[in-house]
Amino acid sequence: MARVAIVTGGTRGIGEAISLALKDAGVTVAATYAGNDERAREFTERTGIKAYKWDVADHQACLDGCAKVAEELGPIDIVVNNAGITRDGTMLKMTYEMWKEVMDTNLGGCFNMAKATFPGMRERKWGRIVNIGSINGQAGQYGQVNYAAAKSGIHGFTKALSQEGARAGVTVNAIAPGYIDTDMVAAVPADVLEKIVAKIPVGRLGQAHEIARGVVFLCSEDGGFVTGSTLSINGGQHMY
Ligand SMILES: NC(=O)c1ccc[n+]([C@@H]2O[C@H](COP(=O)([O-])OP(=O)(O)OC[C@H]3O[C@@H](n4cnc5c(N)ncnc54)[C@H](OP(=O)(O)O)[C@@H]3O)[C@@H](O)[C@H]2O)c1
Repeated sequence: MARVAIVTGGTRGIGEAISLALKDAGVTVAATYAGNDERAREFTERTGIKAYKWDVADHQACLDGCAKVAEELGPIDIVVNNAGITRDGTMLKMTYEMWKEVMDTNLGGCFNMAKATFPGMRERKWGRIVNIGSINGQAGQYGQVNYAAAKSGIHGFTKALSQEGARAGVTVNAIAPGYIDTDMVAAVPADVLEKIVAKIPVGRLGQAHEIARGVVFLCSEDGGFVTGSTLSINGGQHMY
């Protein structure tokens, strides 16, 4: 039986590349998304990967959504917590809502998805959880106290949960991407982006498939001895 994976935010950007790479590796994939129905429909038509709509910040929606995926595709072996948003602004301009939305989605989503799937993985003695952090959670970033805190939290969450899964064959790891060529980075003003790229030793933005390859390894049988670790894929921009 093929393993079953859920990739949150798996219909576009880095998540789309992860969904495709896992499918290519023989995994049955469910990709989730938040609201972009048009993009999700096009994704499913093109890839044959089922898309499911729910908000990862909504605890009950994660429990219900994961139960539905398990019913339709089988028990969930792999979760890639990739869904993430930015609501940037300096402390003077950042509202409580901007803080809360990012914390609830980027970090709360990891908790919600783990609550829904980690017990079953432990019971079946095999599981893989990969959380997508960020270079900005490792190094901090001007105008991103919400995003940097949530992503930094992901790295702590990963190390703590990995200790609870290790004996039961469940690995929990994080990937910290640098700047990757997706819609999220396209939203950065061109002059700011130019300065960012100038600081990347490899001299370019990363590509989504370069993150996806890391996920496939961490989710493989061969990845079984890697747990509680953070893989930085950032073109040498931050050596953590
Ligand atoms: N791009 C980068 O340079 C970079 C660097 C470091 C880390 N990351 C992290 O990598 C991940 C993917 O980034 P990306 O650039 O690929 O993002 P993206 O292109 O903006 O795509 C985000 C995906 O997440 C989904 N999503 C957003 N909020 C959600 C929610 N509340 N519930 C469920 N799904 C939700 C979106 O669904 P809809 O399509 O419905 O909106 C979309 O599928 C994020 O966690 C991001 O923080 C990205």
